[in-house]
Amino acid sequence: MDNFVFYSPTRFIFGKKEELNTGTYVKQFEGKRVLIHFGGGSAERSGLLQRIRDSLSGQKISFVELGGVQPNPRSSLVYSGIELCRKEQIDFILAVGGGSVIDSAKAIAMGTVYNGDFRDFFEGKAKLTKALPLGVIPTIAAAGSEGSDRCVITHEEGMLKRGAGGEAIRPKFAIMNPELTMSLPPYQTASGAVDIMAHVMERYFSNTEETEVTDRLCEAILLTVVTQLPKVMRNPSDYGARANLMWAGMIAHNNSCGIGREQDWASHHLEHELSALYDCAHGAGLAVIFPAWMEYVLKHHAPDRLVQFAVRIFDCKMNYENPEETALAGIKALRNFWKNAGMPLSFKDLGAKEADIPVLLDKLGVDSHEEGKYVRLDRKACEEIYRLACINH
Ligand code: NZQ
Ligand code: ZN
Repeated sequence: MDNFVFYSPTRFIFGKKEELNTGTYVKQFEGKRVLIHFGGGSAERSGLLQRIRDSLSGQKISFVELGGVQPNPRSSLVYSGIELCRKEQIDFILAVGGGSVIDSAKAIAMGTVYNGDFRDFFEGKAKLTKALPLGVIPTIAAAGSEGSDRCVITHEEGMLKRGAGGEAIRPKFAIMNPELTMSLPPYQTASGAVDIMAHVMERYFSNTEETEVTDRLCEAILLTVVTQLPKVMRNPSDYGARANLMWAGMIAHNNSCGIGREQDWASHHLEHELSALYDCAHGAGLAVIFPAWMEYVLKHHAPDRLVQFAVRIFDCKMNYENPEETALAGIKALRNFWKNAGMPLSFKDLGAKEADIPVLLDKLGVDSHEEGKYVRLDRKACEEIYRLACINH
C-alpha cells in the first residue's frame, strides 16, 4: 500500500424527504444569496425544484436560478453562470440534478472567483485553490460528483471533454434522497450503474501490492451493483435497491476505494472522447470501452487481477491450468450483465463509427502522452482498444 492523505469533508444527509431541509443546510454553510443550478427539466417536473425553493424561502434565503444544463455539460452555460454569479453577488451554489449539473455548478464555482478563463484549470494553466462553496442534491446514482473533487466539462471550442479538480470544489454538503432517482428512465439508471462500476474498476486494476482493504471495498461496491441493479430494473420504485445504488455511487468515487494505490483511468479518458464526439451517455460509452480495455490488458499483463475480478465478482470457475480462460469468462460475464441492463456493447450499438477512430485518437492527444497506469497505452494501443470496441457482441 502506498502513502496517502485522505480528506473527504462533505456532509452527507441521506434519506427520504431530506431535500426539505435544504434551506437549513445552506444556512449552516452561510449561504445568503444562492444560485440554484439545474438541468433540462426533470427536477422541475418532479416537483423537486419547488420543494427546494420553498425550503430556501422558509429560511429567508434569496436565490436566482439557472437551468438548462445538458448531459456532458457545456462550457457556454458555465460562462453564463459565472457572469450571473458575479452580477447577482452569489455566495453559494446549489446544484440540483445529475452529475452534469453538479459538474457545471463546480465549474461556475471555480470560475466566479478566478480572474482568468475557467478553462485554464482544465488545461493545467492554473491551480485550483478557491471556489464559491456549493451544496448538491443529486437525482441519479452515477458520476459520484456529489463526493468527488472532480469536474468534467465539454469545452465547445474544439469540443474537448476535459476534467479538472481540487479540494475547493468538493461539495460542502450532499442531500441524497434515493426516492429522487425513481423517475429515471431505465437507460439512465443502467448508464449510472456502469459508471459506478467503472469508477471502482479504474482503481481495482492496479499494480500496487498489498491493498487488501481497498480491494475488498471495491468488491463490495461491485457486488452491490451486481445485485441491486437488476432489482431496480425490475421495479424502479424499489427504495432499498435505489438507496444501495445511490450510496454505492458515492463510495465508488470519493476515493475511499482508491487510496494507497495506483489508479488507471485510461477507460474513462478513452470514453470521454466518445461522449464528446457523439454526445452519448458517459456510462453507456464506458460499457463499450471497459471490456475492450480488459481484453487488451489480458494480452499485455499477467491475468491475476482480471482473474480475481472474474472469480470474486461474477463467481467464474477458476481454471488453474488456463487462468486466461477464467479472465475471459469474467469479461464475458461483465458484458452479459451490462447487456441485460440494456447497455450498448459496441461502437455500432452506441452509434459510433470505426472510421472516426483517428479523430478520437487526435482528440485524446495520445501522441504527446501515454494513457493508463495498469498498462501504459500509446496511440497504437489506444487504437487497438477502440478497434476491439467495434466488435459486435
Ligand atoms: O437534464 P434533466 O432533465 O435533469 O435530465 C437528466 C439527463 O437527461 C436525466 N435525469 C437526471 N436525474 C433524473 C433524470 N431524469 C429523470 N429523473 C431523474 N431523477 O438524466 C440525464 C443524464 O444526466 P447526467 O447528469 O448527464 O448524468 P450523470 O449523473 O451520469 O452525469 C454524467 C456526467 O458526469 C461526468 C460524465 O463525464 C458526464 O459528463 N462525470 C463526472 C465525474 C466527476 N465529477 O467526478 C466523474 C465521472 O467519471 C464522469 O466523468
Ligand atoms: Zn465516470
